[in-house]
Amino acid sequence: MKTNQKKFEELYIKAKEVMNNSYSPYSKFKVGAALLTKSGKIYTGTNVENSSYGLSMCAERIAIFKAVSEGEKDFETLVVIGDTENPISPCGACRQVISEFGVDEVILTNLKEDIKVMTVEELLPYGFSGDELDVKNTDN
Ligand code: THU
Repeated sequence: MKTNQKKFEELYIKAKEVMNNSYSPYSKFKVGAALLTKSGKIYTGTNVENSSYGLSMCAERIAIFKAVSEGEKDFETLVVIGDTENPISPCGACRQVISEFGVDEVILTNLKEDIKVMTVEELLPYGFSGDELDVKNTDN
């Protein structure tokens, strides 16, 4: 882990706390995320579901979108926590959104504090990126 223990504990506590705000009446599965920016700020997110299930939003994306909408785009650490047997595994959509901005490390964990540290490349190998779009746009 690149993140020091003190910083990790702070992010862990914040991610765990925000699980209490999870709006997940359908899945009953609470997820928390805490995102540390390079400027030293922490943005949290939890999952927010909808009766139209497909409109539900994951914790990770909410944390990232909150940060980006506040003008932050450089990220150091993302901690994601769920009440899972093993460290939680982010969904494919979140992996794509995480890779859009990048983050030095993603720390996946659970309530037992099992930890899996991953890079964006490990989470989403050979992912689609905006680089492909630049080539396409020159034809338009
Ligand atoms: N969920 C997240 O918030 N993050 C993940 O990494 C996995 C899944 C949410 C979406 C939905 O509200 C619930 O967990 C069950 O899929």
